[in-house]
Amino acid sequence: MKTLSIRSRLIDLLSISLIIVALVSFSSIFIFLNYKVNKHFDNALMAEARNIINRLYVQNGQIQFKVPELGINLQTASGKGSVFYSIEDDYKMVLSGFESIPRPLLNKRINDAIYYDTIYATEPIRALLMVHKMYRNGVGYYATIIVAETLEDRHDMIQEIFLAISGVTCILIFIVMLVSLIAVNKGIEPLVNLQYFIKKRDINDLTPISEKNVPREVLSLVESINQLFIKLKKSFAHIEHFNADVSHQLRTPLAELKVLIEMDEALKKSGEKAKYIKIINTMSHTTQQLLMYAKTNPDAFDRVRFSPVNVTDLCQKVATDKVLFIYQEGFEFEFEGIEPAWINGGPIILESLICNLLDNALLYARTAQGEALGTITLKVIKENKSVILSISDEGPGIEECYLDKICERFFRLDTKTNGSGLGLGIVKQIALLHNATLSFSNRIPQGLEVRVSFPLLA
Ligand SMILES: Nc1ncnc2c1ncn2[C@@H]1O[C@H](COP(=O)(O)OP(=O)(O)O)[C@@H](O)[C@H]1O
Ligand SMILES: [Mg+2]
Repeated sequence: MKTLSIRSRLIDLLSISLIIVALVSFSSIFIFLNYKVNKHFDNALMAEARNIINRLYVQNGQIQFKVPELGINLQTASGKGSVFYSIEDDYKMVLSGFESIPRPLLNKRINDAIYYDTIYATEPIRALLMVHKMYRNGVGYYATIIVAETLEDRHDMIQEIFLAISGVTCILIFIVMLVSLIAVNKGIEPLVNLQYFIKKRDINDLTPISEKNVPREVLSLVESINQLFIKLKKSFAHIEHFNADVSHQLRTPLAELKVLIEMDEALKKSGEKAKYIKIINTMSHTTQQLLMYAKTNPDAFDRVRFSPVNVTDLCQKVATDKVLFIYQEGFEFEFEGIEPAWINGGPIILESLICNLLDNALLYARTAQGEALGTITLKVIKENKSVILSISDEGPGIEECYLDKICERFFRLDTKTNGSGLGLGIVKQIALLHNATLSFSNRIPQGLEVRVSFPLLA
């Protein structure tokens, strides 16, 4: 579905309004300008006609026309267009001027002036017809005067003024558009800031968004988000407490059960004690693993508690704790890593990641008869901007086709051992929480290497 942007919606609305305003103003300017310019030129035609009327007189029972000394100017003011005129007497005799200038359709004998548009000698013209009545010795004489001109001057004037006004209007529209764009951007700035702030935040950061300088319209949104954060925080805390309670409630009876089995004489005699102890151990291991799996769920884990951790130090500590057991199990052990290698992380869950991988090596790097195979190596390497934690063994490794599936919950290849099938799932979740990449590869001639590559703390 197409997502709607407030900015583009506002800009669309503004542009449409401005286009409408522009169209209305251009057409009204054009209509008004036509009216005014035509009126101006029509008045000039009228003055011309009156000038002619002033030169008419009656002599010997006939209308006469006194031609001005300089003659009648037959060019328009700009010199571009032409002026035509004709003076007719009562008998339609042309006394002076041009013949056959078209008449208006309404050709009544009237005293008023008629303006009309017509074509004369293939050119469009604007003409004025006036009928003038004169008296001489009580007899009335009618003279019909037509003054006309071609339209160049009118068109030029309309074009010039229209271009000038349109230019100014365009500049004004552009300025309005620019100011509106700035206003739109300024107006939605708080929303953009909020969006940027939320995007920038860590996905697991549930601290409230600051309500300082937030405009009223956005405040209720920020308040709702903050309330949601509080709710989420509460439910995460509830899940964590619940996990801890389950762990405690199960661990205690399992420990008691183990003690009871250890002390039970009948079981000792029947030789079945080891079988029961193994089941109890598997149960407590699975309980622990299930709780760790729930705790490290990336959707629920609060990474705000992460702090700088030196992976080299942490590995040394785990190695010190485990080395005796590793030797007791019949393996060789090597530790490589001297340089401090700092990452941002949670030391407890990181320890769980290392232990799960070491436990797997201890459990699976064995012969079919269960004898320990070769050396288990724990390495911390600093490479460019990464800290690589590598745990490798010399066991049988994992068939290539299963390497992709190995981290799936409850996926197990070895059914003889009593694992939970959650170990590598936990490792994957912990790696994800640290933005680390996890990779498995079979070694030559044999063995498995697990590499976890963490981003180095800048
Ligand atoms: N180092 C290893 N060498 C060989 N196989 C391994 C190794 N680590 C894990 N595996 C295989 O991956 C499976 C899944 O491991 P894991 O998720 O830790 O579950 P679990 O250890 O509880 O079975 C194991 O059952 C085992 O078959
Ligand atoms: Mg395991």
